Amino acid sequence: MVEKIIAVFTEKFAEQPIVFRSPGRINILGEHTDYNEGFVLPAAIDKSIYVGITKRTDNLVNLYAGDFNESFSTDTDHIKPAAIQWPNYILGVVDQLQKQGHTIGGFNLVVDGDIPIGAGLSSSAAVECAVAFALNDIFELGLSRLKMALLAQKAEHVFAGVHCGIMDQFASMFGKKDNAIKLDCRSLEYEYVPLQLTGYKIILFNTNVKHSLASSEYNTRRKQCEEGVSIIAQNHPAVNSLRDVSMAMLQDNVAGVDSLIFKRCKYVVQENQRLLGACDDLKKGDVRALGKKMFETHHGLKHDYEVSCRELDFLVNYVKNNETVAGARMVGGGFGGCTINLIKEDAVEKLVEQISEAYHKETNLTLSAYTVSIENGTSKCNS
Ligand code: GLA
Repeated sequence: MVEKIIAVFTEKFAEQPIVFRSPGRINILGEHTDYNEGFVLPAAIDKSIYVGITKRTDNLVNLYAGDFNESFSTDTDHIKPAAIQWPNYILGVVDQLQKQGHTIGGFNLVVDGDIPIGAGLSSSAAVECAVAFALNDIFELGLSRLKMALLAQKAEHVFAGVHCGIMDQFASMFGKKDNAIKLDCRSLEYEYVPLQLTGYKIILFNTNVKHSLASSEYNTRRKQCEEGVSIIAQNHPAVNSLRDVSMAMLQDNVAGVDSLIFKRCKYVVQENQRLLGACDDLKKGDVRALGKKMFETHHGLKHDYEVSCRELDFLVNYVKNNETVAGARMVGGGFGGCTINLIKEDAVEKLVEQISEAYHKETNLTLSAYTVSIENGTSKCNS
């Protein structure tokens, strides 16, 4: 991929770029908990976004996206959301840097990668992080990884309109080979947890669908959680987020007031508890116990949080009673994308064959299967 970026860049801009990469992520457990100040357990994967970049002497910003075979140009005095989507993940970062008082000069940039788009593996966060890292490097801004992750998240809020939590950008920046990151989204303290999955492989099944309600429903879920918090805060003024809430508080304060809000909040409170248990399972190397929790998470995401879809449910149901599968669930925001599965090493090939056929029969769609390895976070690829 690095060679490809260099070749395309040289053809478009007739010079040699510096190349940066930032990975996509999976999440073992802790879905829709990040914006509720809860815990998440993501890991960076061996699929990344790559950015080739050079500084210009004027203030022009020339972008080219390999995936779309499309160019976009503007200048640093006119950074605003574009009518087409892909430049916004780049311009949003420039905008945040400018708002924080950094001077960004003109640059040429090529972006490409091998993270499937819309698959729930955070290709957009990877673009934002790769761009933040690249601009920080070439304009010598001296920003920490945490600062860059936070401004990449803000870029997503402002230029993509998705009020996401910090999980995706944090995982992309802070990924560590063969480790998951247990992140406390309230304090931003984190701990690496070795992914001890002896005998099992992590396999993603991509539904290859992304339903259009994904981002509007995402923002709605966030609001519903905030509503739950404000109902509880009437009786418990110290409560600021669902992190401070117990099941008993939910029962006493929300259950009788709004059953929909209750369901949403219940899922989040339970998911935080599950995550702490999952970290213990991982430390003990108990893959079956971890997998069981993944199935429970899917159940909650489908019935209580209602962010799953027919295609995801089909894939999780298909493997549910299969002895060779320890656990499976949808991953990411939902309404399409991938399921994550823990499958016995020697059973992967046969299962991929069977499930692909069954999925096609059921939906008339083609399934993609990826074996993922866990890799390091954002980095510079050449100099
Ligand atoms: C998306 C968001 C994340 C997180 C997940 C759900 O990936 O970008 O911040 O909320 O959904 O866990």
